[in-house]
Amino acid sequence: MDTSREKAWSILTTHVQEKPLLNHCQAVEIAMRAYAEKYGEDVEYWGAVGLLHDVDFEKYPEEHPSHTGQILQPHGYTAEFITDIESHARDWVPERSLLQKVLLGVDELTGFIIACALVRPDKSIENLQLKSIMKKMKDKAFARAVNRETIVQGADMLGIELQEHIEFVTAALAKDFVI
Ligand SMILES: [Fe+2]
Repeated sequence: MDTSREKAWSILTTHVQEKPLLNHCQAVEIAMRAYAEKYGEDVEYWGAVGLLHDVDFEKYPEEHPSHTGQILQPHGYTAEFITDIESHARDWVPERSLLQKVLLGVDELTGFIIACALVRPDKSIENLQLKSIMKKMKDKAFARAVNRETIVQGADMLGIELQEHIEFVTAALAKDFVI
């Protein structure tokens, strides 16, 4: 299976036109790649899962991510790859693999970190302090749409401290995400 970024990007941009969603997909890709490297996994495969995880969202927001297979199968993506993406459905029942846990764990968190950076005068992720992210986690009025529980649950599932998880994803985004 071809898990190249070039191919994944071309499919993604065929199905997603909204810039914020494209940015979100790239942020999740960056976090997935960073965790793949940390865990000694296939960086390209994990990155492609991240980049394509919301490929059906613009067309099927209600049924997302159940249309992933229909979109990706004709392009030669394996059943395993498609399941990896479909597993980030909130009501997914089977036990999640490490990759699947990371996907769920970084999905909401990347958006939250970017929201924290965007309210800074310099809009910089690099200068964003962990302390300030933790404070905003408790501020319910801030980035209301982001589900804090899913973020906490993500760290729990990975068996790491919440602060460590947030710090790791922030560092990955600071390095590679263009805000
Ligand atoms: Fe997402």
